[in-house]
Amino acid sequence: MKFNGYYLDMKSWERIPEEHVKTYVKICEYAGKDFYRRIAKRIAEDIGKNPKREIKLLDIGTAHGMLLYEISRLVEGTYIGIDCTLEFSKYFKKYTKDKARFVAADAYRLPFKENYFDYIVSTGVLHGLRCPDFFFEEIYRVLRYGGKALVVDPTPLKMEVSEAKKILDENELRIFMTYREQNLKFSGSEIPSTFEKEDIEAVLKNFEKNINFSVKKEDCVLTIFIEKHSATQCKGSRNKKDAKELIKEFIEVPEYRKRIEKIIAE
Ligand SMILES: C[S@@+](CC[C@H](N)C(=O)[O-])C[C@H]1O[C@@H](n2cnc3c(N)ncnc32)[C@H](O)[C@@H]1O
Repeated sequence: MKFNGYYLDMKSWERIPEEHVKTYVKICEYAGKDFYRRIAKRIAEDIGKNPKREIKLLDIGTAHGMLLYEISRLVEGTYIGIDCTLEFSKYFKKYTKDKARFVAADAYRLPFKENYFDYIVSTGVLHGLRCPDFFFEEIYRVLRYGGKALVVDPTPLKMEVSEAKKILDENELRIFMTYREQNLKFSGSEIPSTFEKEDIEAVLKNFEKNINFSVKKEDCVLTIFIEKHSATQCKGSRNKKDAKELIKEFIEVPEYRKRIEKIIAE
């Protein structure tokens, strides 16, 4: 299978604006290491000490790839990160030290065949998605039978303003403060608000015969763990045309559009 193609076909709502990417990378480098290491350790435990073969692992919304690098230090395998923000690809190369491959792609239309990955991870992505159900359907589709998926949302990166001042320049600090204020306004916390546990459980119930799952929400952070165990068709799966319609529908919901426009304008 070829991974080098250009698979991006989506509106720009969920991309991180180019001029914000550097700020995000700096913050993650400064405040994210413990988080990425903790997640990598958990994944290594889930995979087990002696997997029968080299594992294939996908990180959805990988950004700079810091998490993939931490995983690659613990587990042998092939690592692929997908993201719709192309600007991250140069940072990805640097942070993964060429141990993983960056693919420009949309989480709703993963450019991989069915039953392919042994493990799928995604951190800090879910809260920004218009269609969580289709995101999980794609995870389900490309995960192999017996495979596992871990979704953690949002990435609980917290940084004091005094710390931010030490590492960010004036423009980056302005971007940091804008995001911080938005988060405080919308979720009362420095980290963005994510879905309720019940919303995600309702989505995953569509797959009930085919997966085991657990959903936890602690300190505003959702942790979703999925094991795919059966080869039968999932109840929830839609065809691509329906998915496109659904996405269009979400963008056209006036409240949603207003909220996004407000965020962008502020
Ligand atoms: C907050 S960042 C999280 C990055 C990284 N996983 C982490 O934990 O630090 C969210 C990332 O998801 C990506 N993203 C959002 N929606 C996406 C979509 N529909 N398809 C692919 N990537 C998406 C963004 O471009 C961004 O890089």
